[in-house]
Amino acid sequence: MSIRIIFLALLLMAQGAARADGKAIFARNCAACHQATGKGIPGAFPALAGNSFVQGESSQVAAVLLKGRGGMPDFSPALSDADIAEVLSFVRSAWGNQAGPLDAQEVAALRESLKVPAFAAGQMSNKH
Ligand code: HEC
Repeated sequence: MSIRIIFLALLLMAQGAARADGKAIFARNCAACHQATGKGIPGAFPALAGNSFVQGESSQVAAVLLKGRGGMPDFSPALSDADIAEVLSFVRSAWGNQAGPLDAQEVAALRESLKVPAFAAGQMSNKH
């Protein structure tokens, strides 16, 4: 195996792991309302699958998680910037959705501009 093929394999594994992580964060924090299928529950929880807002401006989607909205809880104390980036990257590309990923820096910058307090690592985390 050439070094290039090994590198490619590692890259694909890393990408697969990132995607699985976003999926796991979704299963733990979001699926109770929005459902594992992303279809939500009509009249109660909006579908994220095939949702044009979800596939639109990434900062507006991240703002919903950082501030909460209507019956949607505020995830800013529970999820780190990296978790929010990963779960939204998953949501924007799962179930036939076709929008690009977000990175943790983008979420961090938004958190700062919205004046949402920093994620308290370890304190409120529902990871693990
Ligand atoms: C307790 C139930 C609940 C949980 C848990 C929840 N949501 Fe929501 N979510 C809602 C509701 C209700 C709305 C609609 C809010 C409104 O009407 O403004 C919503 C709206 C949204 C929207 C905006 C959709 C649109 O079309 O405007 C996004 C994006 C979203 N949720 C993502 C998530 C993600 C990602 C998670 C997990 C980190 C999550 N939600 C967890 C209930 C929930």
